[in-house]
This record gives sequence, C-alpha cells and structure tokens, in this order.
Amino acid sequence: MPRKNEKLGVLTVGMGAVTTTLMGGVHAVRNGWGKPIGALTQMKPFSELPLGLAELDDLVFAGWDIFPDNAYEAAQKAAVLDETLLKKMKPSLVSHKPMNGVYDPAYLPSLKGTHIKREKSKWALLQAVRNDIRTFLRKNKLSRAVLVLSHSVESYRPQNRALSTFDGFMRALKKNHPGIPPSMIYSAAAFLECVPVINATPNNWGGMDLLSDMSAMSNIPFVGCDLKTGQTFLKSVIAPALRKRCLGVSGWFSTNILGNRDGFVLDDPQAFRSKERSKKAVLNDIFNPKEMPDLYGQFHHKVEINYYPPRGDNKEGWDNIDLFGWLGYPMQIKVNFLCRDSILAAPLVLDLVLLMDWAHRNGRSGPQDWLGFYFKSPVGSSTGKSSHDLSDQYARLEKLLTSSAGKLL
Ligand SMILES: NC(=O)c1ccc[n+]([C@@H]2O[C@H](COP(=O)([O-])OP(=O)(O)OC[C@H]3O[C@@H](n4cnc5c(N)ncnc54)[C@H](O)[C@@H]3O)[C@@H](O)[C@H]2O)c1
Repeated sequence: MPRKNEKLGVLTVGMGAVTTTLMGGVHAVRNGWGKPIGALTQMKPFSELPLGLAELDDLVFAGWDIFPDNAYEAAQKAAVLDETLLKKMKPSLVSHKPMNGVYDPAYLPSLKGTHIKREKSKWALLQAVRNDIRTFLRKNKLSRAVLVLSHSVESYRPQNRALSTFDGFMRALKKNHPGIPPSMIYSAAAFLECVPVINATPNNWGGMDLLSDMSAMSNIPFVGCDLKTGQTFLKSVIAPALRKRCLGVSGWFSTNILGNRDGFVLDDPQAFRSKERSKKAVLNDIFNPKEMPDLYGQFHHKVEINYYPPRGDNKEGWDNIDLFGWLGYPMQIKVNFLCRDSILAAPLVLDLVLLMDWAHRNGRSGPQDWLGFYFKSPVGSSTGKSSHDLSDQYARLEKLLTSSAGKLL
C-alpha cells in the first residue's frame, strides 16, 4: 500500500479532448466545483470498499502531444468544458505543457505534428520516451505511474508476425520497421519502465503475444482497447437482452455525427478501419451466427462515423435495429443518443487509472480481463476470457473488487 503522502503519476499519450476533460474534471472535483459522475470508483458502492485506491489529490499529470498547446489551450480548443469553469482552473491547466510526441505521418496522415521528437530511428524514439518517463518520475519524486494511450486513431495495419515477440520487436525497432506505430513505441517504453498501460484507443499497441511477452518480463498489468462510452455502451446492454430473449436480429445500422478532432481524424478511411474493428467487436461476438443460425445467420452490421464540425464533441448517434420474433415477424427499434463523448470518457479513464495502479500494487500482471466493462474490444475477449455483455462485465468487476476488499478487511 502506498503511504498517504505518496503521489501517483498519470502519463497521457495525447493531450486532447479526453485527457483535458479528465485533468480539468479531477481539478474541479478536488475543489468542489463538480461531482465525479460516471466514475464507479468515486460512487457507491465501490467508493466505500476499503481497497486503498489512490486519492484524486494524489494524481500528478503529464503527457505527450504532437502539438505544443498547454492543457488550458487544448481544453479550450476541445470545447468540452465551458469557458467559465475553464477560467477557474486556468492557473492549474496552463502549467501542463506536453512533452514532444512520437509522430509518424504514415499512421496519422490527416494531422501534421509540429511538437515532435526528432530522433532518427524508432529504437532511438523508444529510448527518448523511456527517458521522458524516468525524468518525470524523478522530477516529481514519484515511485509509480500509469500510462494512458489517449491519442488520435492511427491508420490500420494488419498484425505483423515479425513483431510478435519481444526479441523480434527489438530487432524490428533497430531496422525502423514500418509496421511499428507510435502506440507500440509508447507502450513498450512503459513496460520497460515498469509502468502499467491502459489503451483507451483502438490503436495497435502490439499483438497479444508481444504484450504478454513484455508484461511477463516486467510483471506489469495492461488493459484495453478503446473506451466503451456511447453507442457501443448501449449495444452491450441492448444486444445481450435480445440474445437472452431469443429474438432474431437481421441487421443493425449505426451512424454518428461528430465534430471534434477525433472525428476529423476518423474521416480518413484507414483510421476509421481501426475504429470500425473495435466498434464491431461487441455485436459480432454476441450475435454469433454459428451458435444461433436461425437468429443471427443473416446478421448484417454497418457502422458509420461522419465528421460534422458544428457538433464539436457533442456526438449524436442513431441506431436502427431490424429484429424478428415469433414465426419470423419483423420489428424495429430506433435509438437516438445525444451524448457528450469526452464527458462519458473522462470518468472511465479515471477509474482505469486508479484500478490499474491498484492492480499493479497488488501484484497483478498481464492482461486485466476483469476490466472488460470499460472497453469496446476488451483484452481477453478473443480467448473467451472476457464477455461483451455489460451486465456480465459489471458482475465480474464487482466480484473481484468486493472479494479483494473482503480479504483486506
Ligand atoms: N471521446 C470519447 O468518447 C472516446 C471514446 C472511446 C475512445 N476514444 C479514443 O480516445 C482517443 C482520444 O480521443 P479524443 O477525443 O481526446 O481525441 P483528440 O483528437 O481530442 O485528442 C487526441 C490528441 O492526441 C494527439 N496525438 C495524436 N497522435 C499523437 C502521438 N503520436 N503522440 C502524442 N500525441 C498524439 C493529438 O494531437 C490530440 O491532441 C482517440 O483514439 C479516440 O478514438 C475516445
């Protein structure tokens, strides 16, 4: 257990809408300007468990970005928190200036990074990120941190076998392998510095073999991928209900309008491909045509995200579900969710930071499949260790935390 005065470092890759809403939100809650709604760790029943989670006052933030805006400027551009609240927290946010990011235009063609590391090889970039982590810990007198991948969606590339082991990955870094995106460099640096990793994005941070290899060497926990915030959150509630009721589904059409920088990046078809894969994972798993061919044999799933600047971070999602019942008679469900993307995402990141730090301090390492509740594409789902049903995921989270708290009493 950390001592009361021990702080926890929170290193974010990307200081955009999600990150600045988290940083600003934590500051607001500390000062009593708002409540931490949506964060399970801050609300009953979990807030009452004697787990010894880090306190909000203990969090020390730092991060990387490929643009030089400080957290106040970035939050203003993200336009999630209102100006009056932002002004109150300006003195705290302006002091957060990002470290230079690892930028590879091949993975992010829609943004031209200016605040970037100039190292010549991917190997040198890994060393530079490791050095950033060490310097941050030393300067802030910290003994521990967690790293959150919360940067823009990278272009999709299929998994490469040459990168499936730690040794192969190290060799590939030295040869500047084109299959290594910035996400992999940041996560490898964290593993090598014994810092737990949370992947809040759909980005490829290494295949499960490589991640397991790296985490086994350093005894570090990792978890991902892609936060389950709006439309996919509702899918993981509605789809299991239809499945349990033995109703057939012939199609599910999902579309969104979104006007923030995430939406701009996702307008690029290769970036959208990364997102589409994780957005589709929930329904593809629940409506399994092999298990229930009469109900899901013809299932058609279509997902769209449209960049529409007037909406900013206030995403609107529409779902049309074509279902059928007794004797095949058709029905429809329509869902229209007017949400706020980063307002839903920030509390999830806060929970993950506190729970992953707790897991690390309690000797947990490898993929943390009990945290599947938080993700569109949870680690462990491909091996059947993690369900996509939100109520199953919640039950698993609750069981682990309550039983651990019982042992700690
Ligand atoms: N907002 C949500 O509800 C939500 C939900 C699920 C997942 N996500 C994912 O979280 C991520 C962040 O979302 P956001 O809304 O904050 O996006 P954003 O565009 O506001 O912020 C991303 C930031 O990352 C920076 N960045 C890009 N590449 C980088 C790199 N290589 N190194 C360092 N910084 C880099 C960008 O400059 C930007 O400031 C995205 O991948 C998004 O898909 C968001």
